[in-house]
Amino acid sequence: MCGIFGYIGKSKDAPKKVFNGLIDIEYRGYDSWGIAYPEKDSFKIVKKVGFLPKSFDFPSANLALGHTRWATHGGVNEANAHPHSDCSEKLVLIHNGIVENYLELKRKLKKHKFKSETDSEVIVHLIEDEYKGKLSLKEAVANVFKRLEGLNAVVVSDGLEIVACKTGSPLVVGKNSDGFIIASDPNAILPQTNNLLFIEDGQMVSLSSSLEYYEIADLKKLEPKFIEVAWEHSSATLAQYPHFMLKEIFEQPQVLYNQIQDLESIKKIAGQINKAYGTYFIGCGTAGFACLLGVYLFSKVARKHVNFSIGSEFNYTEDFLTDKSLLIAISQSGETIDVVEPVNAAKRKGVQIVTISNTLGSSLYRLADTKMLLQAGPEKAVASTKAFMAMVANIILLGFALADKLAQGVSIIEKSAKEIEKVLAKSEEISKLALIIKDSEHMYILGRGLSYPLALESALKIKETSYIHAEGFASGELKHGALALIEKGTPVIVYVPDDETKGAVMANAMEVKARGAFVIGVGFADGVEENPVFDFFFKVADCGASSILPHVVFAQLLGYYLAVQKGLNPDKPRNLAKSVVVR
Ligand code: AGP
Repeated sequence: MCGIFGYIGKSKDAPKKVFNGLIDIEYRGYDSWGIAYPEKDSFKIVKKVGFLPKSFDFPSANLALGHTRWATHGGVNEANAHPHSDCSEKLVLIHNGIVENYLELKRKLKKHKFKSETDSEVIVHLIEDEYKGKLSLKEAVANVFKRLEGLNAVVVSDGLEIVACKTGSPLVVGKNSDGFIIASDPNAILPQTNNLLFIEDGQMVSLSSSLEYYEIADLKKLEPKFIEVAWEHSSATLAQYPHFMLKEIFEQPQVLYNQIQDLESIKKIAGQINKAYGTYFIGCGTAGFACLLGVYLFSKVARKHVNFSIGSEFNYTEDFLTDKSLLIAISQSGETIDVVEPVNAAKRKGVQIVTISNTLGSSLYRLADTKMLLQAGPEKAVASTKAFMAMVANIILLGFALADKLAQGVSIIEKSAKEIEKVLAKSEEISKLALIIKDSEHMYILGRGLSYPLALESALKIKETSYIHAEGFASGELKHGALALIEKGTPVIVYVPDDETKGAVMANAMEVKARGAFVIGVGFADGVEENPVFDFFFKVADCGASSILPHVVFAQLLGYYLAVQKGLNPDKPRNLAKSVVVR
Protein backbone atom coordinates (compact mmCIF):
# COMPACT_ATOMS: atom_id res chain seq x y z
CA MET A 1 0.00 0.00 0.00
CA CYS A 2 1.22 3.58 -0.71
CA GLY A 3 3.94 5.05 1.47
CA ILE A 4 4.49 8.70 2.42
CA PHE A 5 7.73 10.30 3.63
CA GLY A 6 8.62 14.00 3.85
CA TYR A 7 11.24 16.21 5.50
CA ILE A 8 11.65 19.93 6.17
CA GLY A 9 14.45 21.40 8.30
CA LYS A 10 17.98 22.74 8.50
CA SER A 11 19.57 19.71 6.85
CA LYS A 12 20.36 20.13 3.16
CA ASP A 13 20.03 16.34 2.76
CA ALA A 14 16.24 16.35 2.53
CA PRO A 15 16.00 14.35 -0.74
CA LYS A 16 18.42 11.71 0.59
CA LYS A 17 16.58 11.48 3.92
CA VAL A 18 13.32 11.01 2.02
CA PHE A 19 14.84 8.39 -0.28
CA ASN A 20 16.04 6.41 2.75
CA GLY A 21 12.65 6.79 4.35
CA LEU A 22 10.98 5.30 1.27
CA ILE A 23 13.41 2.38 1.38
CA ASP A 24 12.22 1.74 4.94
CA ILE A 25 8.57 1.56 3.94
CA GLU A 26 8.93 -0.14 0.58
CA TYR A 27 8.14 -3.55 2.11
CA ARG A 28 4.50 -2.42 2.34
CA GLY A 29 4.20 -2.96 -1.40
CA TYR A 30 4.28 -0.52 -4.35
CA ASP A 31 4.72 -0.36 -8.09
CA SER A 32 6.25 3.10 -8.61
CA TRP A 33 7.94 5.84 -6.59
CA GLY A 34 8.81 9.53 -6.73
CA ILE A 35 10.54 12.34 -4.87
CA ALA A 36 10.06 16.12 -5.24
CA TYR A 37 12.26 18.92 -3.91
CA PRO A 38 12.40 22.68 -4.52
CA GLU A 39 14.50 23.78 -7.49
CA LYS A 40 14.75 27.52 -8.34
CA ASP A 41 11.18 28.84 -7.91
CA SER A 42 9.55 25.52 -8.75
CA PHE A 43 10.04 21.82 -7.98
CA LYS A 44 12.16 19.06 -9.39
CA ILE A 45 10.14 15.84 -9.48
CA VAL A 46 11.89 12.48 -9.98
CA LYS A 47 9.41 9.64 -10.69
CA LYS A 48 10.07 6.02 -11.70
CA VAL A 49 8.04 2.89 -12.32
CA GLY A 50 9.27 -0.20 -10.48
CA PHE A 51 11.22 -0.55 -7.28
CA LEU A 52 13.59 1.93 -5.62
CA PRO A 53 17.26 1.51 -6.65
CA LYS A 54 19.84 0.67 -3.99
CA SER A 55 20.96 4.32 -4.02
CA PHE A 56 20.27 7.58 -5.88
CA ASP A 57 22.23 10.83 -6.12
CA PHE A 58 20.13 13.81 -5.18
CA PRO A 59 21.22 17.46 -5.02
CA SER A 60 20.88 19.29 -1.73
CA ALA A 61 17.61 20.77 -0.55
CA ASN A 62 16.10 21.41 2.87
CA LEU A 63 12.64 20.13 1.93
CA ALA A 64 11.50 17.03 0.06
CA LEU A 65 8.38 14.88 -0.32
CA GLY A 66 8.51 11.22 -1.38
CA HIS A 67 5.94 8.54 -2.14
CA THR A 68 5.71 4.85 -3.02
CA ARG A 69 2.55 4.22 -5.04
CA TRP A 70 0.38 1.11 -5.06
CA ALA A 71 -1.90 1.77 -8.05
CA THR A 72 -5.61 2.22 -7.37
CA HIS A 73 -6.82 4.88 -9.85
CA GLY A 74 -4.84 4.81 -13.10
CA GLY A 75 -2.30 2.36 -14.43
CA VAL A 76 1.27 1.80 -13.32
CA ASN A 77 3.25 4.45 -15.19
CA GLU A 78 5.44 7.48 -14.47
CA ALA A 79 2.68 10.00 -15.10
CA ASN A 80 0.50 8.42 -12.44
CA ALA A 81 3.33 8.12 -9.91
CA HIS A 82 3.43 10.69 -7.10
CA PRO A 83 4.33 13.47 -6.33
CA HIS A 84 1.84 15.38 -8.49
CA SER A 85 2.11 19.12 -9.22
CA ASP A 86 -0.38 21.84 -10.09
CA CYS A 87 -0.34 23.66 -13.45
CA SER A 88 2.09 26.29 -12.17
CA GLU A 89 4.36 23.57 -10.69
CA LYS A 90 4.56 25.70 -7.55
CA LEU A 91 2.76 23.04 -5.48
CA VAL A 92 3.50 19.34 -5.09
CA LEU A 93 1.29 16.73 -3.45
CA ILE A 94 1.55 13.13 -2.28
CA HIS A 95 -1.52 11.16 -1.28
CA ASN A 96 -2.62 7.89 0.30
CA GLY A 97 -6.22 6.77 -0.05
CA ILE A 98 -9.06 7.01 -2.55
CA VAL A 99 -10.98 10.22 -3.36
CA GLU A 100 -14.36 8.61 -3.95
CA ASN A 101 -15.85 11.78 -5.55
CA TYR A 102 -12.83 12.69 -7.69
CA LEU A 103 -14.66 12.59 -11.03
CA GLU A 104 -17.29 15.04 -9.79
CA LEU A 105 -14.55 17.32 -8.46
CA LYS A 106 -12.52 16.98 -11.67
CA ARG A 107 -15.42 18.26 -13.71
CA LYS A 108 -14.94 21.65 -11.98
CA LEU A 109 -11.32 21.82 -13.17
CA LYS A 110 -11.84 22.18 -16.92
CA LYS A 111 -9.17 24.91 -17.22
CA HIS A 112 -6.47 22.72 -15.67
CA LYS A 113 -3.93 20.61 -17.53
CA PHE A 114 -3.84 17.07 -16.12
CA LYS A 115 -0.80 14.88 -16.59
CA SER A 116 -2.22 11.73 -14.98
CA GLU A 117 -5.38 9.64 -14.65
CA THR A 118 -5.21 9.68 -10.88
CA ASP A 119 -7.68 10.88 -8.27
CA SER A 120 -4.65 12.30 -6.38
CA GLU A 121 -3.82 14.88 -9.07
CA VAL A 122 -7.33 16.32 -8.79
CA ILE A 123 -6.54 17.35 -5.22
CA VAL A 124 -3.49 19.45 -6.11
CA HIS A 125 -5.37 21.31 -8.85
CA LEU A 126 -8.23 22.05 -6.45
CA ILE A 127 -5.69 23.44 -3.99
CA GLU A 128 -4.10 25.49 -6.80
CA ASP A 129 -7.41 27.25 -7.42
CA GLU A 130 -7.78 28.10 -3.71
CA TYR A 131 -4.09 29.02 -3.29
CA LYS A 132 -4.16 31.35 -6.32
CA GLY A 133 -7.16 32.92 -4.68
CA LYS A 134 -4.62 34.34 -2.24
CA LEU A 135 -5.45 31.91 0.56
CA SER A 136 -2.60 30.59 2.68
CA LEU A 137 -1.52 27.04 1.91
CA LYS A 138 -3.17 25.68 5.06
CA GLU A 139 -6.44 27.51 4.30
CA ALA A 140 -6.36 26.22 0.71
CA VAL A 141 -5.66 22.65 1.83
CA ALA A 142 -8.34 22.77 4.55
CA ASN A 143 -10.97 24.07 2.11
CA VAL A 144 -10.20 21.32 -0.38
CA PHE A 145 -9.77 18.45 2.11
CA LYS A 146 -13.28 19.05 3.45
CA ARG A 147 -14.63 18.42 -0.05
CA LEU A 148 -12.91 15.05 -0.46
CA GLU A 149 -15.02 11.94 0.15
CA GLY A 150 -13.33 8.72 1.29
CA LEU A 151 -10.35 7.96 3.49
CA ASN A 152 -7.32 10.05 2.53
CA ALA A 153 -3.96 11.30 3.76
CA VAL A 154 -2.74 14.40 1.88
CA VAL A 155 0.69 16.03 2.13
CA VAL A 156 1.30 19.25 0.16
CA SER A 157 4.19 21.70 -0.16
CA ASP A 158 4.78 25.11 -1.81
CA GLY A 159 8.51 24.85 -1.21
CA LEU A 160 8.37 26.91 1.98
CA GLU A 161 6.18 24.72 4.20
CA ILE A 162 4.58 21.28 4.30
CA VAL A 163 0.87 21.00 5.12
CA ALA A 164 -0.69 17.61 5.86
CA CYS A 165 -4.01 16.19 6.98
CA LYS A 166 -5.78 12.86 6.97
CA THR A 167 -8.90 10.84 7.59
CA GLY A 168 -8.39 7.06 8.09
CA SER A 169 -5.01 6.61 6.46
CA PRO A 170 -2.18 7.02 9.04
CA LEU A 171 0.19 10.03 9.23
CA VAL A 172 2.88 10.59 11.88
CA VAL A 173 5.21 13.58 12.45
CA GLY A 174 8.66 13.25 14.01
CA LYS A 175 10.56 16.19 15.51
CA ASN A 176 14.29 16.55 16.17
CA SER A 177 16.85 19.31 16.55
CA ASP A 178 17.17 19.95 12.84
CA GLY A 179 13.62 19.68 11.58
CA PHE A 180 10.43 17.69 11.02
CA ILE A 181 9.71 14.37 9.33
CA ILE A 182 6.27 13.23 8.21
CA ALA A 183 5.49 9.63 7.24
CA SER A 184 2.73 7.05 6.89
CA ASP A 185 4.66 4.58 9.08
CA PRO A 186 6.16 5.56 12.48
CA ASN A 187 8.89 2.94 12.10
CA ALA A 188 10.41 4.89 9.18
CA ILE A 189 10.83 7.99 11.40
CA LEU A 190 12.56 6.22 14.30
CA PRO A 191 16.10 6.43 12.82
CA GLN A 192 15.75 10.23 13.11
CA THR A 193 13.72 10.63 16.32
CA ASN A 194 11.49 8.93 18.89
CA ASN A 195 9.52 12.13 19.44
CA LEU A 196 6.28 11.50 17.53
CA LEU A 197 2.98 13.24 16.90
CA PHE A 198 0.19 10.99 15.58
CA ILE A 199 -2.05 13.18 13.44
CA GLU A 200 -5.68 12.50 14.29
CA ASP A 201 -8.57 12.33 11.79
CA GLY A 202 -9.89 15.80 10.91
CA GLN A 203 -6.72 17.55 12.05
CA MET A 204 -3.98 19.29 10.09
CA VAL A 205 -0.32 20.06 10.61
CA SER A 206 1.78 22.82 9.06
CA LEU A 207 5.55 22.25 9.12
CA SER A 208 8.17 24.94 8.46
CA SER A 209 10.75 26.21 10.93
CA SER A 210 8.03 25.49 13.51
CA LEU A 211 4.99 23.22 13.75
CA GLU A 212 1.38 24.39 13.89
CA TYR A 213 -1.57 22.08 14.51
CA TYR A 214 -5.19 22.80 13.60
CA GLU A 215 -8.73 21.50 13.35
CA ILE A 216 -9.43 21.23 9.61
CA ALA A 217 -13.06 22.28 10.09
CA ASP A 218 -12.35 25.82 11.34
CA LEU A 219 -8.53 26.05 11.48
CA LYS A 220 -8.79 26.38 15.26
CA LYS A 221 -5.25 26.08 16.65
CA LEU A 222 -4.59 22.96 18.72
CA GLU A 223 -1.81 21.97 21.09
CA PRO A 224 0.20 19.20 19.37
CA LYS A 225 0.66 16.17 21.66
CA PHE A 226 4.12 14.75 20.95
CA ILE A 227 4.97 11.48 22.67
CA GLU A 228 8.45 10.10 23.32
CA VAL A 229 8.09 6.44 22.21
CA ALA A 230 10.46 3.79 23.53
CA TRP A 231 10.44 1.85 20.27
CA GLU A 232 13.35 0.36 18.42
CA HIS A 233 13.59 0.97 14.70
CA SER A 234 12.92 -2.42 13.14
CA SER A 235 15.04 -2.71 10.09
CA ALA A 236 14.83 -6.41 9.40
CA THR A 237 17.66 -7.57 7.17
CA LEU A 238 17.77 -10.64 4.99
CA ALA A 239 20.79 -12.10 6.81
CA GLN A 240 21.73 -15.33 4.97
CA TYR A 241 18.27 -15.85 3.45
CA PRO A 242 17.35 -15.28 -0.22
CA HIS A 243 13.96 -13.81 0.71
CA PHE A 244 12.25 -12.30 3.76
CA MET A 245 9.45 -14.87 3.46
CA LEU A 246 11.85 -17.79 3.98
CA LYS A 247 13.61 -15.98 6.82
CA GLU A 248 10.32 -15.25 8.55
CA ILE A 249 9.14 -18.87 8.12
CA PHE A 250 12.34 -20.07 9.79
CA GLU A 251 11.95 -17.55 12.63
CA GLN A 252 8.66 -19.15 13.72
CA PRO A 253 9.90 -21.48 16.47
CA GLN A 254 11.45 -18.47 18.22
CA VAL A 255 8.28 -16.44 17.60
CA LEU A 256 6.30 -19.15 19.39
CA TYR A 257 8.67 -19.09 22.35
CA ASN A 258 8.24 -15.29 22.46
CA GLN A 259 4.49 -15.73 22.90
CA ILE A 260 4.73 -17.64 26.18
CA GLN A 261 7.10 -15.24 28.00
CA ASP A 262 4.49 -12.80 29.31
CA LEU A 263 0.98 -14.15 29.84
CA GLU A 264 -0.53 -11.14 31.64
CA SER A 265 -2.30 -9.87 28.51
CA ILE A 266 -3.71 -13.34 27.89
CA LYS A 267 -5.18 -13.47 31.38
CA LYS A 268 -6.58 -9.94 31.06
CA ILE A 269 -8.24 -10.56 27.70
CA ALA A 270 -9.62 -13.93 28.85
CA GLY A 271 -11.22 -12.06 31.74
CA GLN A 272 -12.75 -9.55 29.31
CA ILE A 273 -14.13 -12.38 27.15
CA ASN A 274 -15.70 -14.01 30.21
CA LYS A 275 -17.29 -10.71 31.25
CA ALA A 276 -18.53 -9.65 27.82
CA TYR A 277 -22.00 -10.24 26.51
CA GLY A 278 -20.82 -11.48 23.11
CA THR A 279 -17.24 -11.52 21.81
CA TYR A 280 -16.53 -10.79 18.15
CA PHE A 281 -13.25 -11.50 16.41
CA ILE A 282 -12.58 -9.54 13.23
CA GLY A 283 -9.69 -9.72 10.81
CA CYS A 284 -8.87 -9.93 7.11
CA GLY A 285 -7.01 -12.47 5.02
CA THR A 286 -4.57 -14.48 7.08
CA ALA A 287 -5.54 -12.63 10.27
CA GLY A 288 -9.16 -13.51 9.53
CA PHE A 289 -8.29 -17.20 9.33
CA ALA A 290 -6.57 -16.92 12.70
CA CYS A 291 -9.82 -15.47 14.07
CA LEU A 292 -11.86 -18.28 12.48
CA LEU A 293 -9.61 -20.83 14.16
CA GLY A 294 -10.53 -19.16 17.45
CA VAL A 295 -14.21 -20.01 16.95
CA TYR A 296 -13.38 -23.72 16.64
CA LEU A 297 -10.73 -23.74 19.33
CA PHE A 298 -12.68 -21.83 21.99
CA SER A 299 -15.57 -24.24 21.47
CA LYS A 300 -13.35 -27.33 21.62
CA VAL A 301 -11.10 -26.31 24.50
CA ALA A 302 -13.27 -23.97 26.59
CA ARG A 303 -16.86 -24.70 25.52
CA LYS A 304 -17.03 -20.95 24.83
CA HIS A 305 -18.92 -19.42 21.91
CA VAL A 306 -17.27 -16.51 20.13
CA ASN A 307 -18.13 -14.97 16.77
CA PHE A 308 -15.96 -14.21 13.76
CA SER A 309 -16.51 -11.84 10.87
CA ILE A 310 -14.26 -10.87 7.99
CA GLY A 311 -13.40 -7.22 8.64
CA SER A 312 -14.92 -5.89 5.42
CA GLU A 313 -18.21 -7.71 6.09
CA PHE A 314 -18.55 -6.72 9.74
CA ASN A 315 -19.89 -3.28 8.80
CA TYR A 316 -23.01 -4.99 7.43
CA THR A 317 -23.78 -7.18 10.43
CA GLU A 318 -22.69 -5.21 13.50
CA ASP A 319 -26.05 -3.68 14.39
CA PHE A 320 -26.40 -6.13 17.28
CA LEU A 321 -23.37 -4.67 19.11
CA THR A 322 -24.02 -3.12 22.53
CA ASP A 323 -21.74 -1.52 25.11
CA LYS A 324 -21.52 -4.98 26.71
CA SER A 325 -19.95 -6.44 23.55
CA LEU A 326 -16.25 -7.15 23.17
CA LEU A 327 -14.58 -6.69 19.78
CA ILE A 328 -11.18 -8.35 19.24
CA ALA A 329 -9.41 -6.96 16.17
CA ILE A 330 -6.48 -9.01 14.89
CA SER A 331 -4.12 -7.35 12.42
CA GLN A 332 -0.39 -7.66 11.72
CA SER A 333 -0.08 -4.10 10.42
CA GLY A 334 -2.73 -2.58 12.66
CA GLU A 335 -3.67 -0.38 9.70
CA THR A 336 -6.02 -2.58 7.64
CA ILE A 337 -8.81 -0.15 6.80
CA ASP A 338 -11.38 -2.99 6.62
CA VAL A 339 -10.73 -3.51 10.33
CA VAL A 340 -10.09 0.11 11.37
CA GLU A 341 -13.48 1.23 10.09
CA PRO A 342 -15.67 -1.30 11.96
CA VAL A 343 -13.56 -0.77 15.08
CA ASN A 344 -14.24 2.97 14.92
CA ALA A 345 -17.95 2.25 14.39
CA ALA A 346 -17.99 -0.16 17.34
CA LYS A 347 -16.17 2.34 19.57
CA ARG A 348 -18.89 4.87 18.86
CA LYS A 349 -21.35 2.30 20.29
CA GLY A 350 -19.31 1.97 23.47
CA VAL A 351 -17.95 -1.47 22.57
CA GLN A 352 -14.79 -2.54 24.40
CA ILE A 353 -11.96 -2.96 21.86
CA VAL A 354 -9.06 -5.39 22.09
CA THR A 355 -6.34 -5.16 19.45
CA ILE A 356 -3.88 -7.97 18.82
CA SER A 357 -1.31 -6.53 16.43
CA ASN A 358 2.34 -6.76 15.45
CA THR A 359 2.75 -3.01 14.99
CA LEU A 360 3.29 -0.71 17.93
CA GLY A 361 1.61 2.67 17.53
CA SER A 362 -0.55 1.52 14.63
CA SER A 363 -4.08 2.91 14.24
CA LEU A 364 -5.72 -0.23 15.64
CA TYR A 365 -3.18 -0.39 18.46
CA ARG A 366 -4.00 3.19 19.47
CA LEU A 367 -7.77 2.72 19.09
CA ALA A 368 -7.88 -0.24 21.50
CA ASP A 369 -8.84 -0.26 25.19
CA THR A 370 -6.68 -3.37 25.62
CA LYS A 371 -3.60 -3.77 23.44
CA MET A 372 -1.62 -6.95 22.85
CA LEU A 373 1.58 -6.64 20.85
CA LEU A 374 2.56 -9.77 18.96
CA GLN A 375 6.26 -10.35 19.66
CA ALA A 376 6.84 -11.56 16.09
CA GLY A 377 9.32 -8.89 15.04
CA PRO A 378 9.01 -6.94 11.77
CA GLU A 379 7.30 -8.99 9.07
CA LYS A 380 8.49 -7.70 5.71
CA ALA A 381 7.19 -10.31 3.27
CA VAL A 382 3.71 -9.48 1.97
CA ALA A 383 2.68 -13.08 2.70
CA SER A 384 2.09 -13.25 6.43
CA THR A 385 3.69 -16.25 8.13
CA LYS A 386 5.28 -15.58 11.54
CA ALA A 387 2.63 -13.01 12.45
CA PHE A 388 -0.02 -15.66 11.75
CA MET A 389 1.94 -18.04 13.96
CA ALA A 390 1.91 -15.47 16.77
CA MET A 391 -1.79 -14.68 16.29
CA VAL A 392 -2.78 -18.34 16.45
CA ALA A 393 -0.51 -19.03 19.42
CA ASN A 394 -2.23 -16.25 21.39
CA ILE A 395 -5.68 -17.49 20.38
CA ILE A 396 -4.71 -20.97 21.59
CA LEU A 397 -3.42 -19.52 24.87
CA LEU A 398 -6.64 -17.54 25.27
CA GLY A 399 -8.72 -20.69 24.72
CA PHE A 400 -6.80 -22.58 27.37
CA ALA A 401 -6.90 -19.60 29.73
CA LEU A 402 -10.70 -19.55 29.40
CA ALA A 403 -10.70 -23.23 30.38
CA ASP A 404 -8.41 -22.47 33.33
CA LYS A 405 -5.76 -24.67 31.73
CA LEU A 406 -3.25 -22.01 30.67
CA ALA A 407 -0.27 -24.16 31.66
CA GLN A 408 -1.51 -26.83 29.22
CA GLY A 409 -1.74 -24.21 26.50
CA VAL A 410 1.84 -23.18 27.16
CA SER A 411 3.07 -26.74 26.90
CA ILE A 412 1.38 -27.44 23.56
CA ILE A 413 2.85 -24.21 22.19
CA GLU A 414 6.30 -25.44 23.27
CA LYS A 415 5.59 -28.85 21.66
CA SER A 416 4.47 -27.13 18.46
CA ALA A 417 7.69 -25.08 18.32
CA LYS A 418 9.71 -28.29 18.44
CA GLU A 419 7.53 -29.93 15.76
CA ILE A 420 7.99 -26.86 13.54
CA GLU A 421 11.75 -27.33 13.79
CA LYS A 422 11.24 -30.86 12.40
CA VAL A 423 9.08 -29.57 9.53
CA LEU A 424 11.69 -26.95 8.69
CA ALA A 425 14.37 -29.65 8.69
CA LYS A 426 12.37 -31.49 6.00
CA SER A 427 11.84 -28.44 3.79
CA GLU A 428 13.66 -30.18 0.91
CA GLU A 429 10.77 -32.70 0.70
CA ILE A 430 8.37 -29.79 0.21
CA SER A 431 10.59 -28.23 -2.42
CA LYS A 432 10.47 -31.55 -4.34
CA LEU A 433 6.67 -31.58 -4.11
CA ALA A 434 6.59 -28.04 -5.48
CA LEU A 435 8.56 -29.19 -8.52
CA ILE A 436 5.91 -31.86 -9.18
CA ILE A 437 2.88 -29.55 -9.02
CA LYS A 438 4.29 -26.12 -9.98
CA ASP A 439 2.68 -26.09 -13.44
CA SER A 440 -0.80 -26.85 -12.11
CA GLU A 441 -3.45 -24.25 -12.87
CA HIS A 442 -5.76 -25.21 -10.00
CA MET A 443 -5.33 -26.95 -6.69
CA TYR A 444 -7.56 -27.60 -3.71
CA ILE A 445 -6.91 -27.91 -0.01
CA LEU A 446 -9.27 -29.89 2.24
CA GLY A 447 -9.65 -29.80 6.00
CA ARG A 448 -12.28 -30.28 8.68
CA GLY A 449 -12.81 -28.80 12.12
CA LEU A 450 -9.63 -27.09 13.32
CA SER A 451 -8.07 -27.94 9.94
CA TYR A 452 -10.71 -25.95 8.04
CA PRO A 453 -9.13 -22.54 8.82
CA LEU A 454 -5.82 -24.27 8.08
CA ALA A 455 -7.09 -25.24 4.62
CA LEU A 456 -8.17 -21.65 3.95
CA GLU A 457 -4.86 -20.17 5.10
CA SER A 458 -2.91 -22.78 3.11
CA ALA A 459 -4.79 -21.82 -0.03
CA LEU A 460 -4.10 -18.14 0.58
CA LYS A 461 -0.36 -18.71 1.05
CA ILE A 462 -0.17 -20.72 -2.17
CA LYS A 463 -2.28 -18.41 -4.34
CA GLU A 464 -0.72 -15.12 -3.21
CA THR A 465 2.88 -16.22 -3.77
CA SER A 466 2.64 -18.62 -6.76
CA TYR A 467 -0.48 -17.24 -8.51
CA ILE A 468 -1.79 -20.83 -8.81
CA HIS A 469 -5.55 -20.81 -8.29
CA ALA A 470 -5.74 -22.55 -4.90
CA GLU A 471 -8.98 -22.96 -2.98
CA GLY A 472 -9.45 -24.17 0.57
CA PHE A 473 -12.60 -26.12 1.46
CA ALA A 474 -14.29 -27.64 4.43
CA SER A 475 -13.82 -31.13 3.03
CA GLY A 476 -17.41 -32.05 3.84
CA GLU A 477 -18.41 -29.49 1.18
CA LEU A 478 -16.73 -31.48 -1.58
CA LYS A 479 -19.86 -33.40 -2.60
CA HIS A 480 -21.93 -30.20 -2.51
CA GLY A 481 -20.26 -28.89 -5.66
CA ALA A 482 -16.51 -28.60 -5.50
CA LEU A 483 -16.03 -32.25 -6.55
CA ALA A 484 -17.04 -31.16 -10.07
CA LEU A 485 -13.71 -29.35 -10.29
CA ILE A 486 -11.55 -32.43 -9.77
CA GLU A 487 -9.86 -33.70 -12.92
CA LYS A 488 -7.09 -36.19 -13.63
CA GLY A 489 -3.93 -34.93 -11.99
CA THR A 490 -5.55 -32.09 -10.03
CA PRO A 491 -3.40 -31.62 -6.90
CA VAL A 492 -5.50 -31.92 -3.73
CA ILE A 493 -3.91 -31.40 -0.31
CA VAL A 494 -5.75 -33.25 2.46
CA TYR A 495 -4.99 -32.45 6.11
CA VAL A 496 -5.27 -35.60 8.22
CA PRO A 497 -4.42 -34.78 11.83
CA ASP A 498 -4.87 -37.57 14.35
CA ASP A 499 -8.19 -36.25 15.64
CA GLU A 500 -11.92 -36.80 15.30
CA THR A 501 -11.89 -35.63 11.66
CA LYS A 502 -9.55 -38.38 10.43
CA GLY A 503 -12.15 -40.91 9.25
CA ALA A 504 -14.30 -38.43 7.35
CA VAL A 505 -11.28 -36.75 5.81
CA MET A 506 -9.91 -40.08 4.58
CA ALA A 507 -13.26 -40.73 2.91
CA ASN A 508 -12.98 -37.35 1.17
CA ALA A 509 -9.47 -38.25 0.05
CA MET A 510 -10.85 -41.42 -1.55
CA GLU A 511 -13.54 -39.39 -3.34
CA VAL A 512 -11.04 -37.07 -5.03
CA LYS A 513 -8.67 -39.95 -5.72
CA ALA A 514 -11.47 -41.78 -7.52
CA ARG A 515 -11.76 -38.76 -9.84
CA GLY A 516 -8.07 -38.83 -10.71
CA ALA A 517 -6.70 -36.29 -8.26
CA PHE A 518 -3.02 -36.19 -7.25
CA VAL A 519 -3.64 -36.60 -3.51
CA ILE A 520 -1.17 -35.01 -1.09
CA GLY A 521 -1.61 -36.11 2.53
CA VAL A 522 -0.33 -33.96 5.41
CA GLY A 523 -0.57 -35.15 8.99
CA PHE A 524 0.40 -37.98 11.24
CA ALA A 525 -1.65 -40.94 12.27
CA ASP A 526 -0.39 -44.49 12.55
CA GLY A 527 -0.69 -46.29 9.24
CA VAL A 528 -2.28 -43.40 7.40
CA GLU A 529 0.83 -42.49 5.43
CA GLU A 530 1.00 -45.98 3.84
CA ASN A 531 -2.56 -45.67 2.58
CA PRO A 532 -2.46 -46.02 -1.25
CA VAL A 533 -4.90 -43.13 -1.58
CA PHE A 534 -1.92 -40.78 -1.18
CA ASP A 535 0.40 -39.98 -4.08
CA PHE A 536 2.57 -37.94 -1.71
CA PHE A 537 2.56 -37.84 2.10
CA PHE A 538 4.22 -35.30 4.37
CA LYS A 539 4.38 -36.34 7.99
CA VAL A 540 3.63 -33.67 10.57
CA ALA A 541 3.32 -34.60 14.21
CA ASP A 542 -0.03 -34.19 15.84
CA CYS A 543 -0.04 -31.35 18.40
CA GLY A 544 -3.66 -31.64 19.52
CA ALA A 545 -5.44 -28.30 19.56
CA SER A 546 -2.32 -26.54 18.22
CA SER A 547 -1.77 -28.88 15.24
CA ILE A 548 -2.41 -25.99 12.87
CA LEU A 549 0.93 -24.50 13.90
CA PRO A 550 3.29 -27.16 12.48
CA HIS A 551 0.84 -28.05 9.70
CA VAL A 552 0.62 -24.50 8.32
CA VAL A 553 4.42 -24.40 7.93
CA PHE A 554 4.05 -27.09 5.26
CA ALA A 555 1.77 -24.76 3.28
CA GLN A 556 3.97 -21.69 3.88
CA LEU A 557 7.01 -23.52 2.52
CA LEU A 558 5.02 -24.98 -0.37
CA GLY A 559 3.82 -21.49 -1.35
CA TYR A 560 7.37 -20.17 -1.05
CA TYR A 561 8.99 -22.94 -3.17
CA LEU A 562 6.24 -22.80 -5.81
CA ALA A 563 6.87 -19.07 -6.21
CA VAL A 564 10.64 -19.40 -6.41
CA GLN A 565 10.45 -22.35 -8.84
CA LYS A 566 8.12 -20.28 -11.04
CA GLY A 567 10.65 -17.44 -11.07
CA LEU A 568 8.48 -15.16 -8.91
CA ASN A 569 9.49 -12.92 -6.00
CA PRO A 570 7.71 -14.42 -2.97
CA ASP A 571 8.29 -11.25 -0.93
CA LYS A 572 6.49 -8.92 -3.33
CA PRO A 573 3.60 -10.66 -5.07
CA ARG A 574 2.01 -8.77 -7.96
CA ASN A 575 -0.99 -6.52 -7.13
CA LEU A 576 -0.66 -7.08 -3.36
CA ALA A 577 0.47 -4.81 -0.53
CA LYS A 578 1.63 -5.57 2.98
CA SER A 579 -0.87 -3.25 4.54
CA VAL A 580 -4.24 -2.58 2.90
CA VAL A 581 -5.08 0.96 4.05
CA VAL A 582 -7.64 1.70 1.33
CA ARG A 583 -11.06 0.10 0.90
C1 AGP B 1 -1.67 -12.62 4.14
O1 AGP B 1 -0.58 -13.38 3.69
C2 AGP B 1 -1.93 -11.42 3.27
N1 AGP B 1 -0.80 -10.61 3.13
C3 AGP B 1 -3.17 -10.67 3.70
O2 AGP B 1 -4.26 -11.54 3.60
C4 AGP B 1 -3.15 -10.09 5.13
O3 AGP B 1 -3.21 -11.13 6.08
C5 AGP B 1 -4.39 -9.20 5.31
O4 AGP B 1 -4.31 -8.13 4.38
C6 AGP B 1 -4.53 -8.63 6.72
O5 AGP B 1 -3.42 -7.83 7.02
P1 AGP B 1 -3.21 -7.37 8.56
O6 AGP B 1 -2.94 -8.61 9.34
O7 AGP B 1 -2.06 -6.42 8.51
O8 AGP B 1 -4.49 -6.72 8.99
